[in-house]
Amino acid sequence: MTEPAPSRIDDACDSANRRVHVITYGCQMNVYDSRRIVQVLGAQGWVETGDPAMADLVLVNSCSVRDRPEQKILGTLSRLLPLKEAHPGVRFGVCGCVAQQHGQALLDKVPYIDLVFGPDRIADLPAILAATEDGRRESRTTLDAPSDYSFLDVDPSVEPGPTAFLTIMKGCDRFCAYCIVPYVRGRQVSKAADRVLAEVQSLVAGGVREVTLLGQNVNAYGKDRPGEPDFPSLLSRIAAVPGLDRLRFVTSHPADADDRMLDSFGALPVLAESLHLPVQSGSDTVLARMRRGYTAAQYLERLARVRRACPDIALSTDFIVGFPGETDAEFDATLRLVETARFDSMFSFKYSPRPGTLAARTIDDVPEALKAQRLARLQAVQDRITIQRMARYLGREEEVLIEGPSRDTRSGGRGKAILEMQGRTRTNLTVNLPADIPIREARGRLARVRIDEVLVHSLRGTVLAWEAA
Ligand code: SAH
Ligand code: SF4
Ligand code: F3S
Repeated sequence: MTEPAPSRIDDACDSANRRVHVITYGCQMNVYDSRRIVQVLGAQGWVETGDPAMADLVLVNSCSVRDRPEQKILGTLSRLLPLKEAHPGVRFGVCGCVAQQHGQALLDKVPYIDLVFGPDRIADLPAILAATEDGRRESRTTLDAPSDYSFLDVDPSVEPGPTAFLTIMKGCDRFCAYCIVPYVRGRQVSKAADRVLAEVQSLVAGGVREVTLLGQNVNAYGKDRPGEPDFPSLLSRIAAVPGLDRLRFVTSHPADADDRMLDSFGALPVLAESLHLPVQSGSDTVLARMRRGYTAAQYLERLARVRRACPDIALSTDFIVGFPGETDAEFDATLRLVETARFDSMFSFKYSPRPGTLAARTIDDVPEALKAQRLARLQAVQDRITIQRMARYLGREEEVLIEGPSRDTRSGGRGKAILEMQGRTRTNLTVNLPADIPIREARGRLARVRIDEVLVHSLRGTVLAWEAA
């Protein structure tokens, strides 16, 4: 089935402002970067539009971590191509990790892409736009050396609601054998702690109540900055910021998740009770080939430690199945780890060779059908455990931070009353609930909610009490 070609409604456009539409794939880093893109363009008088048909600039912020990322971008842009054909002034750009990986080659290969820029070049966007004003094309993908890298400031006014991401470091030094991230994001650079604190304060002053700190390996925060606090110390300092209700972070690497970090969950009330700790495999031999730097037993000991500090914590993880050479016995070790660990939720992926990585030098020898079969088996085991873990919420009272209208009713169309709102528990579960007050008043407030129904990955509840306005 082909999608209808989008059409442009020029008369609805305010000619004073040019409009950008950003499509974001990949991890939270990219979500964060897309906000910075909107921020940099906003300073030049651009406004964001949710409708590509209204845009003068369409940007795809891309991810190259697995599968066929280029296909995804080209599929997205080619569907929007009629817009560009009808209005030749409209520009298409690719940024993010695929842009960094392929650079000029994307321009050479795809005639309808006008600009390409890497994650370190967001601040150059005004210059790139000036250079591509008259039909010329441009690619900028230099990754800054750690000593030259400067983070863009967070502007709370572009944050969409009561929750915000905050990048505290960029890049990654771990070089796990399968992973392209260190190549497309460069070496680790930590943001100065004082600056992180000032940004958290400014987000809170701007109305944000929950901050999620971002980094590919937040536990290594500060290791590239002698004299700066390490990650557990940074958490303690942020915990002291008045007005911050919830603090989260992603992603943690188990080998760098030390006791102080894990114990913080028992010591810092602001730290919300959820931890994503990617394990990737339950087999020690696969973990060694992946260069992860821990064994399954060490990983399980980390989980036990954090559960001692915070018994109700929700734990999630990532797995890769079908890593080169993965035998049935090695995969069985993964199934055993899932049974033992009893995660609340899991993301699992079929191994996908990434050019330039260590693992890509080894033949991708697990057949696709076997990868698919292992993925399905793994997910079936976790699905059963997820149901068991979710059951504990029934009848419980939870603190829920209301984020806005619920997904089911959000697209109800003009004039249709939105009756359902959505928020999150401290354990990061989505709760849908009837709106007993107007949603614009509820947004950004905490409510005590009774959980009436447990669904597969979300909850339904009723407000028992609102915090004082
Ligand atoms: N920095 C994070 C993860 C970044 S990528 C960490 O260290 O955990 C997110 C997830 O994608 C990884 O945890 C891994 O499970 C998956 N992934 C990364 N590279 C992959 C590859 N080549 N094939 C399949 N899955 C991959
Ligand atoms: Fe990739 Fe490993 Fe770094 Fe995570 S820690 S981004 S998986 S290299
Ligand atoms: Fe993807 Fe880049 Fe993030 S490769 S996972 S968008 S760092």
